[in-house]
Amino acid sequence: MEIKATTTPQLEWTGDALAIGLFEDATELTGDMAKLNEMLAGTLSELIEETEFKGKANSSASTRVGSNSPIRKIIIVGLGKSEELKLDTLRQAAATSGRLAKKERCKTLGISLPMCQDANATATAMTEGIELALHKDNRFKSELENQGPDVETVDLIGLAGSDEAIARARQICSGVILARELVAAPANSCTPITMAETAEALAKEFGLALEILEKEDCEKLGMGAFLGVAKASDLPPKFIHITYKPEGTPRRKLAIVGKGLTFDSGGLNLKVSGSGIEMMKFDMGGAGTTFGAVKAIGQLKPDVEVHFISAVTENMISGHAMHPGDFLTASNGKTIEVNNTDAEGRLTLADALVFAEKLEVDAIVDLATLTGACVVALGNDIAGLWSPNDDLAAQLTAAAEKAGEKIWQMPLEEKYFEGLKAMHADMKNTGPRPGGAITAALFLKQFVKDTPWAHIDIAGPVWIDAESGYNNPGATGYGVRTLVNWVLS
Ligand code: BES
Ligand code: MN
Ligand code: ZN
Repeated sequence: MEIKATTTPQLEWTGDALAIGLFEDATELTGDMAKLNEMLAGTLSELIEETEFKGKANSSASTRVGSNSPIRKIIIVGLGKSEELKLDTLRQAAATSGRLAKKERCKTLGISLPMCQDANATATAMTEGIELALHKDNRFKSELENQGPDVETVDLIGLAGSDEAIARARQICSGVILARELVAAPANSCTPITMAETAEALAKEFGLALEILEKEDCEKLGMGAFLGVAKASDLPPKFIHITYKPEGTPRRKLAIVGKGLTFDSGGLNLKVSGSGIEMMKFDMGGAGTTFGAVKAIGQLKPDVEVHFISAVTENMISGHAMHPGDFLTASNGKTIEVNNTDAEGRLTLADALVFAEKLEVDAIVDLATLTGACVVALGNDIAGLWSPNDDLAAQLTAAAEKAGEKIWQMPLEEKYFEGLKAMHADMKNTGPRPGGAITAALFLKQFVKDTPWAHIDIAGPVWIDAESGYNNPGATGYGVRTLVNWVLS
């Protein structure tokens, strides 16, 4: 698929489908829209009337245009109230246009939407919308269902000069798609070994430094928490560290840490049927987002040094599994009573955070499908954000807003650490049920000393169920665009 900013005005554009955006209660056609309607022999006003189209956000309609017309189909997408126009409105409108064009078997699509902020920001949002809406993961299908032709070219009308922004948006999307593919791949296909191979391929492609610590290396570093989780798996754990270094002195140094459980059975505190155990291939979503960010940053080449880290393993059961109640010692010397083997993500992250802090970076952000409690609190669309550093929290909130990815800051209520107090060890890995996402964040905090740090729980937005009524079910690639915006900020 080709996406380009065309200099052709809306009224002169020719192709299979023309998509236009209309604001709420502004469906009276005036100016160029009236001319377009005239050119299409009144098809536009008929479509608006017949479908009772009101321009509400997320509404759309399409129809065939008379055969003598320079376009075959007309698509209208609602933009909501003009005073509430946001980049995300345009992202969604472009996505809807792309999906409808595909459904209507159109190979060429022209999209004409109003501008928000400036041409580059508008083109970026639209490119993301189209690219991510039309991406379909058919890697595991032996046969493709009859799905019609693909959209081959997309012209963004009225955004001439933003081709550079489009190219950059597509690089970021390639990272989002990688994250989706890693998360969607099942645990018999995406393993610690294949994750290490993916890291190698990324490092090679973009000329990045790669360090993979094997089990023995992790033992030497005293990563008892990570290795405790890895004990029962027949697959070797892989501690992955990829480094992007800009030319010259970096403006700042950052670390991104992703939870990398290629499968979470719960361990001996085995997940029961109905707990969603069959979905626990997505428990490496944090690592998937991290690798997606590697792919984007590797192409964008910002003036910032970034370390990408994931302690990758499975949480399994076997005769050499860690026992519920075992004491583990993390690489910072802290001891942990594992009162629940299913709270494994925080154990792997503990050693990853200690490792990240030794790199002397300016800030550390971790992403993790950490708790069901966060999904209960914020639902499937919104990630939870915890940080003792308000400045870092604000940076991430702004980066997420720009990306159109929903995030909500949650309290790091110190008092709740009481719930993690252990009798003989420094702490337990699990507290009481209430505030479970908060105690998880407080647990992680024990493994970062002075570096500004933030934790993002992506257990909800990592995946969209097919039954939820969303347009793009499956792995979302949530977080890649937020991370990229943050690194560039
Ligand atoms: N990977 C899960 C969290 C999770 C659960 C993500 C459901 C998405 C959907 C994590 O390792 C886990 O099992 N957490 C437990 C913690 C509990 C034992 C304190 C949970 O949330 O139930
Ligand atoms: Mn678990
Ligand atoms: Zn888990």
